[in-house]
This record gives sequence, structure tokens and C-alpha cells, in this order.
Amino acid sequence: MQTIVISGANRGIGLALTRQFLQAGHHVIAGCRQPAEAADLLASLGSLELAQLDVGDAKSVSLFCQQLGTRAVDVLINNAGVMGGEQQGIGDMDYADWLHTFEINTLAPFRLATALLPNLKLAARPRIATISSQMGAFGLELGTGLYAYRSSKAAVSKVMQVLAQELAADNIIVCPLHPGWVRTDMGGQSAHISTEASASGLFKLIDNLTMDQSGRFWTWEGREHVW
Ligand SMILES: NC(=O)c1ccc[n+]([C@@H]2O[C@H](COP(=O)([O-])OP(=O)(O)OC[C@H]3O[C@@H](n4cnc5c(N)ncnc54)[C@H](OP(=O)(O)O)[C@@H]3O)[C@@H](O)[C@H]2O)c1
Repeated sequence: MQTIVISGANRGIGLALTRQFLQAGHHVIAGCRQPAEAADLLASLGSLELAQLDVGDAKSVSLFCQQLGTRAVDVLINNAGVMGGEQQGIGDMDYADWLHTFEINTLAPFRLATALLPNLKLAARPRIATISSQMGAFGLELGTGLYAYRSSKAAVSKVMQVLAQELAADNIIVCPLHPGWVRTDMGGQSAHISTEASASGLFKLIDNLTMDQSGRFWTWEGREHVW
């Protein structure tokens, strides 16, 4: 049984990932802002441990790490994310919201990953999987607008690429992942795939990740993504 930490585990892709890893017999430490209100999460079957985790709050991250203590963590999935507000365009940019989007989508995955390094180093095949997005890829031109979201995801992919190089000496695998366009509160109901389909693909990919895949960008289908 491996220990899997998932942020933003209470709904959307994070909830589906939690269920996938529980079904596979792993112990999941499900981080969410309001654990007591995570009804769907509480109904999940398996070795589930709920923990309060606001990834944008350094104190919450610190208390979360204290709850983990000196246990080995096999996989960290940085899933929590925000789209940013409605005002992300030319002439109506909400700069405070842009900064908040960066805090949650870019800075927080780095903070959580580095805070959990002692736990990850205790695992046999430690992996840091960060849910980025094709919306942050330089090699694709996918529409316009959403400057805050796109730039935060482009930045987190770069952060993970650098982290992969730095942690290679510790044999820690680090990858940004694109989960597909998924029907969630964020993705909307017109999105291409269900949370189950996304999580099933991500589960297979994360379960089998090897060192030679580290520092590269992957899709939920296991295909390499352009940067
Ligand atoms: N859906 C898509 O098509 C798609 C495509 C590409 C990438 N992604 C990425 O996939 C990840 C999951 O997205 P989703 O579609 O499942 O979105 P979602 O349904 O909106 O869920 C977002 C999750 O992130 C959590 N979260 C937000 N801010 C947080 C914070 N400060 N601390 C802890 N948790 C926080 C939310 O918790 P609360 O319930 O407390 O708000 C929720 O659990 C995100 O990183 C997103 O950018 C999604």
C-alpha cells in the first residue's frame, strides 16, 4: 500500500483521483479546505485520511505537514487550482485576482512539494505530479483571454521542469500533467471527458511513472505534451 497525498480532493478531478487511488488499495491523504463539508469525499470507500489543507495558506500547509509527521509519501498530486475570476482580459484585468491565481496555481505546488520533500525522500519511488494545463503550453495557441490562468499554468509547468532537474539526484520523479478538458465546475459541462476518464488515465500514468519520464509534460492519456 502506497501513501498518496492529493490537494483539492473534495470535488472535480481531485475527488475522482482520490477514488481511483483508494480503489487500487492505496492510502490516500485527502487535503481539502473544509474537510467536514466534503460529503462526496466522506462517502468514498477505502483507506482514506482527511486533512485540512488550504494550499494558499503557509500555516495550513505547515499544520498539514505536521499531521503527516515522518511518514513516507509515495506520491504527491498537486491538483488544487483556480481558474481566476471573470476579469482577465484587456481593459478589465483584475490584478489582485491574477496574483491570487498565481499563488494557488504556481506558488502553492512548489510550497507543498518542497515542504513534503523529507516525506517523499523516504519512499521507494517518489513522484510529484502537478496538474498543469494545455492552456499554459507555449507550443499551442488555444484561443485568447484568460491571461491569469494561462500564465499561472505556463509558470507551474516551468517550475516543475526545474524541480525535476534539481530532485533527480534524490530519484524523485517530477512531472506536470494535462488532465484533458474535463467536466467539472472549472471545465464546464461542454468539456470532452468525465472526471472518471481523466482520473483513470492519470492514475495509470502516475502509477507507472519512471525516472526517464521526469521533467517532461504528459497528458492524461500518457502521451508527451508540447511545452
Ligand atoms: N477541468 C478541466 O478541464 C481542467 C483542464 C486542465 C487543467 N485542470 C486543472 O485540474 C485541477 C483540478 O481542476 P477541476 O477541474 O477539478 O476544478 P474544480 O472542480 O474547480 O476543483 C478545484 C479544486 O481545487 C480546490 N482548491 C481551490 N483553491 C484551493 C486552495 N486554496 N486550497 C486547497 N484547495 C483549493 C477546490 O477546493 P474548494 O472546493 O475548497 O474550492 C477544489 O477541490 C486544477 O489545477 C485545474 O487547473 C482542469
